[in-house]
Amino acid sequence: MIAIGNDHVGFELKEAVIEVLKEHNLEYKDFGAYSSERANYPVYGQKVAMAVASGECDRGILLCGTGVGISIAANKVKGIRAVVCSEPYSAKLAKEHNDANILAMGARVIGPELAKMIVENWLTAEFQGGRHAERVALISKIEDGEVLES
Ligand code: RB5
Repeated sequence: MIAIGNDHVGFELKEAVIEVLKEHNLEYKDFGAYSSERANYPVYGQKVAMAVASGECDRGILLCGTGVGISIAANKVKGIRAVVCSEPYSAKLAKEHNDANILAMGARVIGPELAKMIVENWLTAEFQGGRHAERVALISKIEDGEVLES
């Protein structure tokens, strides 16, 4: 189950994202906002992040003007690794190396066709584990207040 969230600026791009999810026969839960009426991005970043962190959803996709604000909000929730991507390469590597569990995109930055390619790359990539898992575990330690040693 994929969690989707957006503010008013990201609302229209949601259609393109849902198209890709449907192509992959993936179920999704839309946490809003449900229109282009002004909506505060931290609310939707948090909703999606909590759904992913709790296990209610496996992954999340967030949309705002730049993808920045909504990903910052999502990253405040423990266990979330949200990344903003504006091209497919980073989206693929964000999953393979960083096990990014939320993908954010900016509706003022990219168009629907590029967004679809980015979603496609992130969805089909697999976390490679190994040394990357060790590094992701170090990120979790930061969340737990540990000071990392070099
Ligand atoms: C809303 O104007 C805009 O700030 C928001 O969509 C997003 O880009 C924030 O990072």
